[in-house]
Amino acid sequence: MAGLRFHSRFLVLCAILLILTRCHGQLCLPEKHIALFVFGDSLYDVGNNNYINTNSDYRSNVWPYGETTFKYPTGRFSDGRIIPDFIAEYAKLPLISPYLNPAYRQYADGANFASAGAGALVGTNRGFVVDLQTQLSYFKNLIGMLRRKLGDTDARALLGRAVYLFSTGINDYLAPAATNSSWFLSYSQEDYVDMVVDARYLLILIAYFRAKEIHKNGGRKFGFQSLPPVGSLPSRRAVNHGAATEEAIARVILHNKVLPKVLVKLERKQLKGFRYSMANMVQGREDRMLWNCPYRGINSCGGRRSVKEYELCDDPKEYVFFDSAHPSQTAHEQLAKLTWSGTPIHTGTYNLKAMFQL
Ligand SMILES: *[C@@H]1O[C@H](CO)[C@@H](O)[C@H](O)[C@H]1NC(C)=O
Repeated sequence: MAGLRFHSRFLVLCAILLILTRCHGQLCLPEKHIALFVFGDSLYDVGNNNYINTNSDYRSNVWPYGETTFKYPTGRFSDGRIIPDFIAEYAKLPLISPYLNPAYRQYADGANFASAGAGALVGTNRGFVVDLQTQLSYFKNLIGMLRRKLGDTDARALLGRAVYLFSTGINDYLAPAATNSSWFLSYSQEDYVDMVVDARYLLILIAYFRAKEIHKNGGRKFGFQSLPPVGSLPSRRAVNHGAATEEAIARVILHNKVLPKVLVKLERKQLKGFRYSMANMVQGREDRMLWNCPYRGINSCGGRRSVKEYELCDDPKEYVFFDSAHPSQTAHEQLAKLTWSGTPIHTGTYNLKAMFQL
């Protein structure tokens, strides 16, 4: 009896799974499977820069990066997991691996294209990073692979349901202020911010999604975040780059005011069905700054950059920053929680949790 009951329950379960799952060769996906695609800079890079020709300023594949969770340096600029790792966990996805890892096979769960040092402008840290447009061209290759694996209809459905996260912009202000300041200062504050936010960053992105017909098919769930307060980064406190840095700080503040307005405009006028989350990275972080780690301000973590000496804090959990510009795992986790389930003050209309349920 018991065996028979078990048997029939088992059959019912199988039938349900058959209805809710679609298989393509060995790849079976639940109907409501939501993939996560990640683009941007060092806040989101999970190791893509390990696979490009660059230098140690743009890489974190040295100890003590990774010491807390992975126990080896993965290429994340942190002692452990970073925001996209936590978002994947909350969304019940596996960790999303770097697209450039030759072992990448995670087609249906998503991909991470982010590259430390990258900005929205192609000229930002040119030659050392994967810029946003190239990240999008890699994404285009992935779309091709998905179509071959899943067929056109299901690939489009997957891309349409997916959530797309972006962390972009900070390097467009910091890098030229440090290395190309006369060019940087030749623009007015407003024109430069418009160039980063509007023309280059969002519009290229949207144009891309339209051209690829992803948007038409539902690809419209975007997650953005404000830029971190540059004036409070440890690196900024330790070194004074002069007028261009002051100007970068002012432009970042303006960027954080302009970006939400452009998003509202896109949602209202230009893109039907465009939905976004806009995480506010500024609040929350500034309240909790801890500054008692002596060498924190110098870009020397791991001892492979120009300054060889660095001092490691006993417990990174107690600090917001792990190196001179990048948050610790604890700070990443707090930011991820805010992004995932924060209230509209912190996330705009949708938080990511709501976006994954749409
Ligand atoms: C400064 O940046 C601009 C735009 O990316 C670039 O065209 C120019 O060559 C750069 N100049 C220097 C000296 O790097």
